[in-house]
Amino acid sequence: DWTPQSFVEETVDELKEKLGNDRVVLGLSGGVDSSVAAILLHKAIGKNLYCIFVNNGLLRKNEFDSVLNQYEGMGLNVKGVDASARFLDALEGISDPELKRKAIGRVFIEVFDDEAHAIENVKWLAQGTIYPDVIESVSATGGPSATIKSHHNVGGLPDFMKLKVVEPLKALFKDEVRRVGASMGMDPNILGRHPFPGPGLAIRILGSLTRENVRILQEVDAIFISNLKSWNLYDKVWQAGAILLPVNSVGVMGDERTYEKCVALRAVESTDGMTADWVNLPYEFLQKTSNEIINKVKGVNRVVYDISSKPPATIEWE
Ligand code: XMP
Repeated sequence: DWTPQSFVEETVDELKEKLGNDRVVLGLSGGVDSSVAAILLHKAIGKNLYCIFVNNGLLRKNEFDSVLNQYEGMGLNVKGVDASARFLDALEGISDPELKRKAIGRVFIEVFDDEAHAIENVKWLAQGTIYPDVIESVSATGGPSATIKSHHNVGGLPDFMKLKVVEPLKALFKDEVRRVGASMGMDPNILGRHPFPGPGLAIRILGSLTRENVRILQEVDAIFISNLKSWNLYDKVWQAGAILLPVNSVGVMGDERTYEKCVALRAVESTDGMTADWVNLPYEFLQKTSNEIINKVKGVNRVVYDISSKPPATIEWE
């Protein structure tokens, strides 16, 4: 009979046996899978696990600092690398969704490779790959592992790709990963996090990707997510986020005519992201959230709610 406790015991023993005194590098994304993988490996090999958490400048508002603090609080040997400027420079002027993904994947590999290279004698690359990632060629779970997998054919192999790979969650489904994390005493706030795409807010900013647009979307998204939490709706939703549209529309403010940006809110129910339905959020919630966004976020004068299911729409707009 599979239980999270027995999985943890057996896996920690196996990892100890397999890794011995070797050093292991792991890319943390802030997501559930890489976090649980890290805690499992930390239990087995402690400080020989070197975690790298890259800020690509496309995370949610305050996410880099707060998640890094949480990781440190869990006792992980983690290095936060703020590479925002490198990513945002590489994205300048790119509006095609696949080119955005390619640019982000390429910069991620460069940054991660530099960092992994700086760790002496590292032998292994750990990844938070879960079973659905193994069966689908395109990972829908996000994070560095997905980025690495889909970009390993860009140019020659980076040094870290020559490492041996260890994937302790490879046989698990998402709900099992959450149970394993819970049985190790991990914070429910980490385990209950919505999925978030590896390319982050870049694929939620349609049209030109500027630092100002990232900032606007971070503000809008933060209001939406924090309201979902305060209304106890966050855990009822599989994934939620805001999209900045490449559309200005006319509004009024006092006696003035405005011509400002429009954002779409998206909240979906799903089990695996392959199909999804929009969530019937209470009108009052939508009303309050829309007012708050328009009042507080300068440059936005219109909010719409996305009522499309997948298929034929997708969860993300890009
Ligand atoms: P779609 O938009 O295809 O999204 O319905 C399904 C799930 O996949 C996530 N997603 C991504 N995750 N890199 C990722 O790591 C990507 O390029 C990517 N594109 C979509 C999306 O957030 C949703 O959970």
